[in-house]
Amino acid sequence: PSLAALVTDLPACELHVHLEGTLEPELLLGLAARNGIELPTTTVEEVRATHVFDSLASFLAVYYPAMEVLQTRRDFFDLATAYLTRAAAQNVRRAEMFFDPQAHTSRGVPFEVVVEGLLDAVERAPGELGIDAELILCFLRDHPVASAEETLTAALPYAGRILGVGLDSDERDHPPADFAAVFARARAAGFKLTMHCDIDQQGTLEHLRQVIEDIAVDRIDHGSNIVDAPDLLAVAVQRGLGFTACPLSNGFVTEQMKAPEIVTLLRAGAKVCVNGDDPAYFGGYLKENLAALAAAADLSAADVVQLARNSFEASWAPSERIAEYL
Ligand code: HPA
Ligand code: ZN
Repeated sequence: PSLAALVTDLPACELHVHLEGTLEPELLLGLAARNGIELPTTTVEEVRATHVFDSLASFLAVYYPAMEVLQTRRDFFDLATAYLTRAAAQNVRRAEMFFDPQAHTSRGVPFEVVVEGLLDAVERAPGELGIDAELILCFLRDHPVASAEETLTAALPYAGRILGVGLDSDERDHPPADFAAVFARARAAGFKLTMHCDIDQQGTLEHLRQVIEDIAVDRIDHGSNIVDAPDLLAVAVQRGLGFTACPLSNGFVTEQMKAPEIVTLLRAGAKVCVNGDDPAYFGGYLKENLAALAAAADLSAADVVQLARNSFEASWAPSERIAEYL
């Protein structure tokens, strides 16, 4: 078969998708109408015209205001169900999905409304949609640490139903070390740990060092510039740490897909995989990301198969379940 057909058909696992980043313009407008919210944009074309980004900050400035349309438990159910339906249609067999509770609680939506709505979708996904689904709660690193602590406390009753915690939003001046105590408490409560380690500027290698050596995360989101620190990369490979690459969003936020770095990780034996990130904003879901990387890096069929295999091996599924997926 052609490489394009292989990319389409391969089973894969999504490990880096922000549910709020799957809010397609059609759903945004539908939820606004349902909730009686007047938006500055009233057509799909107008919404899409706002999706012009040249940095993480310029993306976040569009991403957060759009969330205002998400208000009820049913809205959060509809958001996650729409994503899981699209993912299942791409032969994604499992999705460990980020959500940003502080982006909702900070505007008055109760934590329980967000989580219960998302869990309604998660629990229905295997039977109704043929996809396994899990949630990863992300703390917003540009909010105070005390707010992350409060959010973790609210999440404690859901330990076991929320699989892990992550760290996202604007990384500049918000190093992982600031959140070390929150993450230690989350680990003690049974949550898996991951963090975005992303920005393409001075200081990022120190962030990678903190997440690997000090916090000892279970996975790293982005993180491809670890190729500039061979000693850290060796530790990551030895630990079997997953790296969740997102080529299309990198293309907007850092002006390049980071294809050479992703290939270097793959060749070094790191468990790097390809993901959607914010697919409603950056032009593609998991398989469009895989196709774009395959084209940019001239990947072989064996490379593409290895990336898909890595996506399951870097997942937090029980090992016997991983064996079934593969
Ligand atoms: N980077 C950082 N924070 C985010 C992103 C991202 O791509 N998407 C949603 N929150
Ligand atoms: Zn992300």
